[in-house]
Amino acid sequence: MTYTLAADSALLQPIQVGDTLATNRLFMAPLTRSRAAADGTPSDLAAEYYSQRAAAGLIVSEATAVSRGANGAYMNTPGIYTDAHQAKWAEIAQAVHDAGGKMFVQLWHVGRMAHSEISGSQPVAPSAIAADMLTHTPTGKKPLEIPRALDIEEIPGIVADFRAAARRAIDAGMDGVEIHGANGYLLHEFASDVVNQRTDAYGGSPENRARLTAEVVEAVVAEIGAGRVGLRISPGNHAGDMHENDMSAYEALLNRIAPLGIAYLHVLIDPSAHIFGVLRALWSGTFVLNTGRDTGTDFSQLEGYAEWGAISAAAVGRAYLANPDLIDRLVLGAELNEPVVATFYAPGPVGYIDYPTLDEVAEPRSA
Ligand SMILES: Cc1cc2nc3c(=O)[nH]c(=O)nc-3n(C[C@H](O)[C@H](O)[C@H](O)COP(=O)(O)O)c2cc1C
Repeated sequence: MTYTLAADSALLQPIQVGDTLATNRLFMAPLTRSRAAADGTPSDLAAEYYSQRAAAGLIVSEATAVSRGANGAYMNTPGIYTDAHQAKWAEIAQAVHDAGGKMFVQLWHVGRMAHSEISGSQPVAPSAIAADMLTHTPTGKKPLEIPRALDIEEIPGIVADFRAAARRAIDAGMDGVEIHGANGYLLHEFASDVVNQRTDAYGGSPENRARLTAEVVEAVVAEIGAGRVGLRISPGNHAGDMHENDMSAYEALLNRIAPLGIAYLHVLIDPSAHIFGVLRALWSGTFVLNTGRDTGTDFSQLEGYAEWGAISAAAVGRAYLANPDLIDRLVLGAELNEPVVATFYAPGPVGYIDYPTLDEVAEPRSA
């Protein structure tokens, strides 16, 4: 696949994202790569992987757990809740900054997507409703378990975990954090009128279903400042066996958090969905779109949206995974490397830090 971006393309213009100046509007979407150590310390290879992609306007890290209990949907996913985790994230931040990049850490609680064989404890969720799915555990593929409905008294602890993790990200030298409210994990589960059957202040009305995400955003903003906080949502997305009939929790959420003036809202959605227009109209701040098409990125569509001002920036996942020099290739109209699905989550360097740049194609590494 090829696509050419003209030098004056809207996607190549700089943009101020809260406190961070991004040199272009093609951000790297968060991508779980399952290379972390079993204790959640990021891989020794992660600094190289991310710094190879420093030409992205902003890198959003792979989803990163805010506590031991928040991890455990997949094996070898990182955390940011111990000093060892933080030290490794600091190396990554340094490497990305040295290469001229900017980076936010995506903060994650996996909710009912956890498996006790990975996390060491029963998964927690808004309600005791399992996702009808299998997951890879250390002893093979297993069905996801019925989660335990969180007690209302436990919720402030979860909010505090996000806040503490955000502090660690900033102390590690990161430019900010993205709160993961998407893809069927805990915050998304609370927003759903199907998966969340609570009858307390965190379930029922749109405002109640939006409450946990809003409280997390508010706490993280209080800790590190609004200019360093992004939020990702994916209304209507079916990842994690997620179902939602009523999207009004997202309207309630945006209405509640809009006055905070966070760095950006990141929405994973097909822009032909009705809710896209509704949310876009509600959000006057920086709006980042990830279209997530099965067939790969439609750069022409993203460029058109950026040109009209329908979006502030676009986030791109697999194209960055496979093309560390994606921006150069788009400027030159060069062929893009195809992502290799078999090594998305495989351990080690292959399919992680060895996708060639154009320079290396001209002059292979082995030469
Ligand atoms: C290997 C892989 C890992 C992903 N990990 C995450 C993640 O950690 N957090 C997240 O919010 N989305 C994650 N996603 C979703 C991507 O951010 C993105 O929405 C999706 O890949 C569609 O965008 P694309 O067509 O540009 O790849 C992942 C997707 C892939 C393919």
